[in-house]
Amino acid sequence: MRLQVVDHPLLAHKLTVLRDVTTDSPTFRRLADELVTLLAYEATRQVRVEEAPVTTPVAPAVGVKLSAPKPLVVPILRAGLGMLDGMVRLMPTAEVGFLGMIRDEETLQATTYATRLPDDLSGRQCFLLDPMLATGGTLVASITYLLERGAVDVTAICLLAAPEGIEVVRAAFEERVDVTIVTAALDERLDEHGYIVPGLGDAGDRLYGVV
Ligand code: URA
Repeated sequence: MRLQVVDHPLLAHKLTVLRDVTTDSPTFRRLADELVTLLAYEATRQVRVEEAPVTTPVAPAVGVKLSAPKPLVVPILRAGLGMLDGMVRLMPTAEVGFLGMIRDEETLQATTYATRLPDDLSGRQCFLLDPMLATGGTLVASITYLLERGAVDVTAICLLAAPEGIEVVRAAFEERVDVTIVTAALDERLDEHGYIVPGLGDAGDRLYGVV
């Protein structure tokens, strides 16, 4: 498992405003969107491309285009939806699947309640979107789900991560170089309710209001 904590002053600035308890939902959504686009730039460094001819106004040249099969972007419902636009803005030809995972607030175990993905992911590079890597249970279940269906590699993009969650993912995929986590910050710890400290609260609630 590879971990990349992206160090950039613009990311750090936007993340600070995102964390602020006084930041309202519209601002939170806009900032999450901007942060994802910046993270996506790093997370897609290994996306596969192939040579493609191009004719400029001056001369023919050789450029690149994304290789087939198209990368698959998978937001984990519900909070991952707040990251989708920022991701596909950078990679508009990617396909999008959906994975609904819910965490039992007492046992903190993740279970799948909805999927909308191709049955066969053979050869696909997958980008999982989940703003908060807390206990790691949801992410391990989601990565396993994609790898079992043939994904060649899985990159999880998270706004924030807790060390406990990173260790859970590392323990599950220790030797695998096809699993990567890209995040804007590694926070201090989890509290007794499974919230990231200092974190930003419940990402789904802050994006969409409490339901
Ligand atoms: N999910 C959230 O939305 N926030 C946390 O701090 C942990 C999990």
